[in-house]
Amino acid sequence: DFLQQELGLRTKERQLNSIFQVERCLVVPGDSDLDQAVSRSMGASVNQLLQALLPPGKNVLAVMGGTTMATVARSLSSELAHERDLMFVPARGGIGERVDVQANNICAQMAQQTNGQHRALYVPEHVSEKTYQPLLREPAVQEVVSLIKQSNAVIHSIGEAIPMAQRRSMPQVTIDELLKDDAVGEAFGYFFNAEGQIVRKLSRIGLQLEDLASMKCVVAVAGGASKGQAIAAYMKIAPRQTYLVTDEGAANVILKGS
Ligand code: BG6
Repeated sequence: DFLQQELGLRTKERQLNSIFQVERCLVVPGDSDLDQAVSRSMGASVNQLLQALLPPGKNVLAVMGGTTMATVARSLSSELAHERDLMFVPARGGIGERVDVQANNICAQMAQQTNGQHRALYVPEHVSEKTYQPLLREPAVQEVVSLIKQSNAVIHSIGEAIPMAQRRSMPQVTIDELLKDDAVGEAFGYFFNAEGQIVRKLSRIGLQLEDLASMKCVVAVAGGASKGQAIAAYMKIAPRQTYLVTDEGAANVILKGS
């Protein structure tokens, strides 16, 4: 019944907290691999979390792309704008994400939902160094890069290494290397093995993993049994101030493997 389920979820949250030693782990009921509604409840949790964590006044939120983040975007409410100025910026440029789930689009949606502002970053991944360097000197690109550096919050998801490499159309030789290096997880364009060691890194622009250390509010949102191993890998190196929003499907896999 309801009470049993609630108690079970709180126990799982406590167990995850003690494994990962981050600020807080939140577990919503169900498995988002099997039910889209579970992704929406993770989105609702992220909305509540931001409502509780973001300070009044100016906030710059750096956000990543992906299908989970697209659901989070649709879950944000205009109440977040109460006494706050919200600016959404893509956390990183040029990691070859699918157009419909690109961070640029997610930022636009988040701004729309919360009456906030957003900026887009147009930096393609597959260009030569010669094309890339002058792009970085463009004022529009520099404006967004400096906003990213000023961001006080970041929201991102976590993916499985090989599916993410394929979705980003990485060449087969690179995928073979990821397999050889036992990559299991990916976050922010960084690929990890099960021990949480970085085995590869994409993108040369925007937020870097080391920038997270000084960030006040880091929200990682990822669920589904299929992502259990990837989440466990990334969480080994996640900054301490991370809030993990996940679901029971992923939590069960993580707890079984720990
Ligand atoms: C993004 C992360 O937010 O979500 C990526 O930056 C991650 O690193 C991706 O792999 C996961 O995508 P999805 O579609 O499974 O939510």
